[in-house]
Amino acid sequence: MGDHDTYWKADGSYLPPVKPHTKAKHQILADYIKNWVVTLCGNNMGKRKSITLIDGFCGGGMYVDPENNNELWKGSPIRMIEMVERGLEIVKYEKSKFDYDLDAKFIFIDSKPDHIDCLKIQMQRAGLEHYIHNSEKCEFICGEFEPLAERLVSEVGMRKGSSFFFLDPFGYTDVTMATIRKIVSLGKSEIIYTFMIDFIRRFLSEREGSLKRAFTDILEAEGYFMPASGYNILDQQDYLRNETLRLFRNKGGARYVYSFALLPNRTIVEYYLVHLASSPTAQRVIKNALWEHNNIELIYQFNRGVTGLGFSTPEYYERGTKIFNIEEENVRASIESLNNELMPVIYSHEDGILFEELHIKTMQTNPSPVNHYMSYVDEQRDMREIEVWRNGKITKAKQLKPGDIIIKSSQGKLFDFKSFKHK
Ligand SMILES: C[S@@+](CC[C@H](N)C(=O)[O-])C[C@H]1O[C@@H](n2cnc3c(N)ncnc32)[C@H](O)[C@@H]1O
Repeated sequence: MGDHDTYWKADGSYLPPVKPHTKAKHQILADYIKNWVVTLCGNNMGKRKSITLIDGFCGGGMYVDPENNNELWKGSPIRMIEMVERGLEIVKYEKSKFDYDLDAKFIFIDSKPDHIDCLKIQMQRAGLEHYIHNSEKCEFICGEFEPLAERLVSEVGMRKGSSFFFLDPFGYTDVTMATIRKIVSLGKSEIIYTFMIDFIRRFLSEREGSLKRAFTDILEAEGYFMPASGYNILDQQDYLRNETLRLFRNKGGARYVYSFALLPNRTIVEYYLVHLASSPTAQRVIKNALWEHNNIELIYQFNRGVTGLGFSTPEYYERGTKIFNIEEENVRASIESLNNELMPVIYSHEDGILFEELHIKTMQTNPSPVNHYMSYVDEQRDMREIEVWRNGKITKAKQLKPGDIIIKSSQGKLFDFKSFKHK
C-alpha cells in the first residue's frame, strides 16, 4: 500500500516522515475525539462516565514532519490521550462541570515490539509518563489485533460506558467483518477504520484469483462490488464508495456509516476513513470534523464521480495558488445540494417534519454539516417556501432546535402539533 516504509526504531532514533494525507487523518482523529468527549460528557446532566479508547494499530507515537524542518509530529495514540484531556477541560471549564469524573482508559496495540517501545519513549517525552505505569489508565499490548479482538470487546463490555476504536492497519486483511460487527454490537461504540479501497479496485479484475478468500471470508463481501464494464474511473469510484458504505451498514451492522476519501494523487482514492456508529449524534460530530478537513472542490465533484468529502494531496500543495476561495464555494455547493435532498422530504410530510428528523433522515447522503441545514432552511424561509414552527408559533430563529417543525408554506393551514413529540 506504499506505507510499508512506515516503521519506528525501539529507541526512537528513527521516526518515519509524515505524509500530508496522514496529517489530515491525525487532525480529523484529534478534532473528533475532542468533540466526542465534549458531546458525551458535556451535553447531559450526568457527572460521571467511563470511556475506553482502543488504538488497534497504534504505531510508534511520533513522526517527523518534512514540511516543517523535520519537527516532531504526533501520531494517533498520543493525540488520542491529549484530546481526551482537552475535551475534559472543555467539559469542566466551558460547560461548568468542574467536578466531572471521567474514567478514561486507553489500550494501545501493535504487532511490533519496537513500535510499542518507541511509543512509550515518545509518551514520556510528550509529558505523558504517568500513563505509562498506570495499567488502569493505559495498557500496551504487543500482538496482532484480530486475535485480541474478542478479549478487547469483552473488556470494554465489562467496563461499560462508551468506546472508540481507531483501526488503522496498512492492509485490508487485518480486521475481519466479524470483528467490526462485534464492536458495533457493543452498542455505545464507534469505529474509525482505514479501509483500503485500492484492494477492492484490484479485486474487480481478479475476482476469482488469490484475493477471493480475503474478500469472501474476511470482508464478507460476496454480492458486493460487482464488476461492471463501461464505468469510467470516476463513476467506478463512486460505485465503490457506495458499495463500501452498503457493506459496512449491512455486514458491519452499523446504522450510521460515513466515509472520507484520502487521495495521495489527483483522482484515485487510496483509502477511506470509514466511520461507523450506532447513533446519529456520533455521525453529526464526525461530519463536522470531516468538513473542516475536506479540501476537495464539491462543485467539481457533483458534476463528475462523487467521492464525497475528502483530502487530496495535490490539492493541498496547490492551495494558495487558487484564485477563488474553495471554502466559500464549498459552503455554497453544500447548501445548494441540500435542495434536492431536503425539499422532497419536506414536501412528503404534509404536516411538517421535526428538524431533527429531517436531519437524521438525510445526513448520510450529503456532505453538509448541521449548520448548513440551518442556513438552507433559513434561505427557503426567506423565500417563503417553508415555515418553521416552535412551541406553536412561527419562528424566525436562525439557530434551529431539534424539536422545531419544518413545513412547506401553507398560508394559514392548520396542523396538529400534538402529533409531534418534542425532545
Ligand atoms: C499505519 S501504522 C499506524 C499509525 C498510527 N495509527 C498513527 O496514525 O500514528 C500501522 C501499524 O500497525 C502495525 N500492525 C501491522 N499489522 C498489525 C496487526 N495485525 N495487528 C496489530 N498491529 C499491526 C504496524 O506495526 C504499524 O505500526
